Amino acid sequence: MAEFDYDVIVIGAGPGGYVAAIRAAQLGLKTACVESRETLGGTCLNVGCIPSKALLHASEMFDEASNGALAKFGVKVGSVELDLDAMHAEKAKAVKELTGGIAFLFKKNKVEWLKGHASFNGATSIDVAGKSYAAKNIVVATGSSVTSLPGVEIDNEVVIDSTGALALPKVPEHLVVIGGGVIGLELGSVWKRLGARVTVVEYLDEILPGMDGEVRKEARKIFKKQGFEFRTSTKVTKVERTGAGASVTVEPAAGGAAEAIEADVVLVSIGRRPNTQGLALEKAGLQVTNRGQIDVDNRFATKVPGIWAIGDVTPGPMLAHKAEDEGIAVAENIAGQTGIVNHEVIPSVVYTHPEIAGVGRTEDELKAEGIAVKVGKFPFMANSRAKTNRDMDGFVKVVADARTDRVLGVHIVGSLAGTMIAQAAQAMEFGATSEDIAYTCHAHPTHSEALKEAAMAVTGLPIHI
Ligand code: FAD
Ligand code: NAI
Repeated sequence: MAEFDYDVIVIGAGPGGYVAAIRAAQLGLKTACVESRETLGGTCLNVGCIPSKALLHASEMFDEASNGALAKFGVKVGSVELDLDAMHAEKAKAVKELTGGIAFLFKKNKVEWLKGHASFNGATSIDVAGKSYAAKNIVVATGSSVTSLPGVEIDNEVVIDSTGALALPKVPEHLVVIGGGVIGLELGSVWKRLGARVTVVEYLDEILPGMDGEVRKEARKIFKKQGFEFRTSTKVTKVERTGAGASVTVEPAAGGAAEAIEADVVLVSIGRRPNTQGLALEKAGLQVTNRGQIDVDNRFATKVPGIWAIGDVTPGPMLAHKAEDEGIAVAENIAGQTGIVNHEVIPSVVYTHPEIAGVGRTEDELKAEGIAVKVGKFPFMANSRAKTNRDMDGFVKVVADARTDRVLGVHIVGSLAGTMIAQAAQAMEFGATSEDIAYTCHAHPTHSEALKEAAMAVTGLPIHI
């Protein structure tokens, strides 16, 4: 150990890095974690999952109180007023408590926080704030940053990224969202509920790429009903500041006449790119892929012995829970155990209303691969709890292998989809068939019964439709 300062140094304290550091320390390894932000928790806790969900929750309450939804249930409220500063303050409190919680966990587990930006100076050592540190193992968990549109400058006042959209000081009249993906729809929902007119410009012919085809169509229908305006199959060619706002020039993706859309705020949400700049990876002998990611094997080891990588900086979905699970697995592998992540079963959730969630393969993907499937669908319209709550949008879809009945994918649009998908993920992790789910007793009345009924529908015998 003499020549090494640590057994493990983790670069980045996001959900991947902080979890890896804690598990490494739990397994008896001397561990440090480098983080250049003022607070721990990475994108997710500081400017991602947590503040966005805080605003989604708060804006949903505002919407319910102001759009007559509460009144319909006999809950009469007086005039409803928005105090945006208070909403932002409550969000900041949640972020502070959670990021502070990671600092507490670091102390509890004896993980040392090296404050500053890390860059490699060799395969086993890094520089941080003018000092060098050597470690037997280095885990790169540097996450990702927003991708900008070529030629479009993000000033975070008028042309904003997700971080700007989490901190707008007032509700825009017209928000134009470039990119109908997860961020565009979640943060678009926040500002829509608070009173903005929202137009989503999407390059592809449908929103939410990667999700199940029927789910994508249903989601767009519901969002349209909520007042979202969609311009699909449309590309943005220019965004120009015009006094207090911006002019967004769009044209059909296939080519055609250009048109200008005036906005007071433009949110650029067209994806994220891995953070590898400034790491001096070449000094460690590491290269990035043509997508800028660090390639790893199924143990999260890179091509350079002793250097590992996890989370958004590696291939796969850019999701906090994927990063966390990889954090645990990489630490266990470093400690000589067998750390595994089943990348076939990573759920994803869009926290709009209704929520949209999926796990496993989509029907379209499987069919394109020539795999015969059986599909069962059940609408929330026929679910007693959803009906009682007057919250009937969406459906559950179970996709099973036609030969073995094994569940290959579950896709849900529904108010509790994000919670329900955990059951589907667990069933799939255990190799469940649709029959296993259909014959599992589900409590009544719950939204989860819609999953059981969708599983029953795979064999064509649901009870309630
Ligand atoms: P990050 O969380 O990005 O953390 C990397 C950390 O490394 C950062 O803190 C960075 O400062 C630090 N770092 C980078 N380079 C260096 C260096 N050289 N030296 C020192 N430190 C460095 N995912 C979900 O699953 N659910 C959600 O609801 C969700 N909501 C999101 C909402 C928004 C608005 C955004 C932007 C993202 C959201 N995500 C969500 C995605 C999620 O935030 C990421 O997938 C997750 O944070 C990735 O974790 P990570 O540990 O790989 O990287
Ligand atoms: P995204 O990949 O979800 O969506 C980007 C969208 O922009 C796509 O629909 C794409 O077709 C479109 N697009 C790309 N270029 C375009 C252009 N020039 N003009 C118009 N449309 C264009 O990316 P997003 O929303 O920026 O989110 C980034 C990542 O953050 C996602 O990969 C997601 O995993 C993660 N995230 C996860 C959340 C969650 O789990 N709930 C919430 C927010 C972010």
